[in-house]
Amino acid sequence: MKRREDKRLAKKGVSLLLTAALMMGLTGCGKEGNNQPEEGTATITPTIEAGKEVTPEPTAEPTPTTAPTPTEVEKEVRTDFYISAIDEELPSLYEAYTDYFSIGVALTASELFNELKVDVIKDHFNSMTCGNEMKPDYLLDREGCVVAGTEECPVLNFKSCDGMLQFCMDNGIKMRGHTLVWHSQTPDWFFMEGYSNKKDAVMVSKEVMLARMENYIRQVMEYVNTNYPGVIYAWDVVNEAILPGDGDADGMRVQDSMWYQCVGPEFVEKAFEYARKYAEPDQKLFYNDFNTYEVAKRQAIIKLVEKIQAQGNIDGIGMQSHIGISSPTLDDFETTIRKFAETGLEIQLTELDVNLDSSSEADLMKEGTRYKRIFFLLKNLKDTGAANVTNVTIWGLTDDKSWLNKDGLRYPLLFTQLLETKPAFWGILQDEGIPLY
Ligand code: XIL
Repeated sequence: MKRREDKRLAKKGVSLLLTAALMMGLTGCGKEGNNQPEEGTATITPTIEAGKEVTPEPTAEPTPTTAPTPTEVEKEVRTDFYISAIDEELPSLYEAYTDYFSIGVALTASELFNELKVDVIKDHFNSMTCGNEMKPDYLLDREGCVVAGTEECPVLNFKSCDGMLQFCMDNGIKMRGHTLVWHSQTPDWFFMEGYSNKKDAVMVSKEVMLARMENYIRQVMEYVNTNYPGVIYAWDVVNEAILPGDGDADGMRVQDSMWYQCVGPEFVEKAFEYARKYAEPDQKLFYNDFNTYEVAKRQAIIKLVEKIQAQGNIDGIGMQSHIGISSPTLDDFETTIRKFAETGLEIQLTELDVNLDSSSEADLMKEGTRYKRIFFLLKNLKDTGAANVTNVTIWGLTDDKSWLNKDGLRYPLLFTQLLETKPAFWGILQDEGIPLY
């Protein structure tokens, strides 16, 4: 894939970098020009062009009267991290990691109507995940199910994700299929006789539910692979099935899982069996979960995936990676990756974001360090052959649209609402201006 090659690594060291001495004297180390939103989720409009102004043009460097000795040569360090991503000069995230893994972003369908966002997406990401649009509650068509009256074969409607799949196909971006079987965002009526949504609805038998599951998976895969061939490279076949302490001896989620309650714990292996049956041979099948660095959870996941692996029906483990600024520790994170990798399966960080308490300059820099260290670690694990990490996906493009903004803004992503880069962006690029520790 070769998109906008002209933007490659361009002037990073030229127009935006000052010497350390100049930095101390002229700019301080602030987030000058940061137009971080205070609140709300206002749609970005073309006035964002004004965001380009945040990059100060470098003042002329003092002309040395004598040639500097090597020790006097100042190291160039970035001082302004808030650069308009519409700027033609930014290095591309995905190009920086071509030799390691693909770089993805989760989006909602409406974001693709914003041309400025589309440019940024095409510049920096070569993988995409639908934030919601391919989940069962979006694809299942209750009215269609009731009218068709076929207990074993649900009716689906793909209008929610068609545009996103087409966008990927048109632009050479690959997609992670998210997600086929999940306790959440799957309507209760899907498990009921006659697809009833009444209070007194009766749950279908295990046999009927397994038939519904197979037909659901078959239809999703057939539709996507027929209409958008080659776009999906990985499927999250089962999401979040492990929750130690929830009542199952193997650590499976029980209380809020209709799948578990209707089918029993074997719903996971059945889902992978059906997924393998209908997936294209080159599509990778993933088990995906959050808080994978918790010891009990990690152990239960490994036990589960090893069973499916023995059946030949799984290719990878997805670590969602919704993390905090200091928790989990990098050590715990690394241990989990290494232990997952010992299974021989691929590893993907499928939903990375870093939850912040504030947008203070100090916290945004700490976030930059967090991203820098995670990517440094992943590169190292790949370089040393310790883990086959094949994708890292950031769970959202701009901070204002993050799913974490439930009780206030959490600033977890790489771009501000105005499509300016944050220290987190430069951290991923291993920029010298972001401390590694
Ligand atoms: C989130 C979406 O981003 C939100 O818009 C939605 O309201 C809830 O789900 N784990 C997952 C993702 O696997 O699908 C979730 O996405 C975040 C947690």
